[in-house]
Amino acid sequence: MQQGWIPLVPESASSLSWKVDALYFYLSGVTLFFTLLISIVLIFFVVRYRRRTPYEIPRPIAGSHKLETLWTVIPFLIAMTMFGWGARVYFEQYKTPENGMEVYVVGKQWMWKIQHSTGQREINELHVPVNRKVKLIMTTEDVIHDFFVPAFRTKADVIPGRYTTMWFEATKTGTYHLFCAEYCGMNHSGMTGSVIVMEQREFDDWLSGNTGSTTPATAGQQLFQTLGCASCHGANGEGGRGPNLIGIFGKNQQLQSGETVTVDEKYIRESITDPQAKLVAGFGPIMPTFQGQVSEDQILQLIAYIKSLHGTGETTPTVAASPSPTARPGASPTRNVR
Ligand code: CUA
Repeated sequence: MQQGWIPLVPESASSLSWKVDALYFYLSGVTLFFTLLISIVLIFFVVRYRRRTPYEIPRPIAGSHKLETLWTVIPFLIAMTMFGWGARVYFEQYKTPENGMEVYVVGKQWMWKIQHSTGQREINELHVPVNRKVKLIMTTEDVIHDFFVPAFRTKADVIPGRYTTMWFEATKTGTYHLFCAEYCGMNHSGMTGSVIVMEQREFDDWLSGNTGSTTPATAGQQLFQTLGCASCHGANGEGGRGPNLIGIFGKNQQLQSGETVTVDEKYIRESITDPQAKLVAGFGPIMPTFQGQVSEDQILQLIAYIKSLHGTGETTPTVAASPSPTARPGASPTRNVR
């Protein structure tokens, strides 16, 4: 890996990394300043107020409110600058931008499986274009892992049964280390990979020369058919035993219990693995669970398919999935990495 200009600090290659670095250097600077200040004062006092004769009795000290207030208020203000600054960087890091290029990540002992929304699959490698926001939607097949790219100064846990998101915008082309940063068993230390940041044109070439067989949305559509979902979830009431799924993603859904829920990745996943957990108002508890019948990859494909069902007036969810907004027209299916 490329080294930064300071030893032991990894190269800085994302829109966020210099902000994290600036905060980190501020913390180090404050620490260094007070370490020096206290050491110097300590040594000075030791020398200045040393015992000069064996029978010396020091002058009694009564304390000073002024001094005590000063050394309480100043550290408090300094601590608040750290808190405020840290919170700002934290929120920026964890608030995922809406317009990011979406990439699906599934962690597994001991590899990273990655799929682009245009269908390309990769293992332990992630190709991305430079200067473009990339949003990762991540989960794991087994235990907790953690997706960590030091050069981007960002990392996030991937958790069984949940989706976590993470984003970055690489600002420099190159190859950067990807680590698993959560101990996940014997080969944890080997669960590494690379993020390859390319110019947009190179990335387009890579995409078109290295495609998966189908986009996640299309694969999800096929699954939707083979699992028999369409017999209940058809639009216009055919089947009619399950809610219509067109245009549902991102909307609020009224539940049997009177609550409402936002239809996001997490809710769809739960509805597939535990359909009775949050029943939509007006529908009976008749859907069987698909827990164990579909892998995490397949659940992500079903989600991609449901996301692709816009309310465009199509009559059934069996219509061909439209590519997601990030799909590139030049991409043609040739190779499946899996
Ligand atoms: Cu995966 Cu540590």
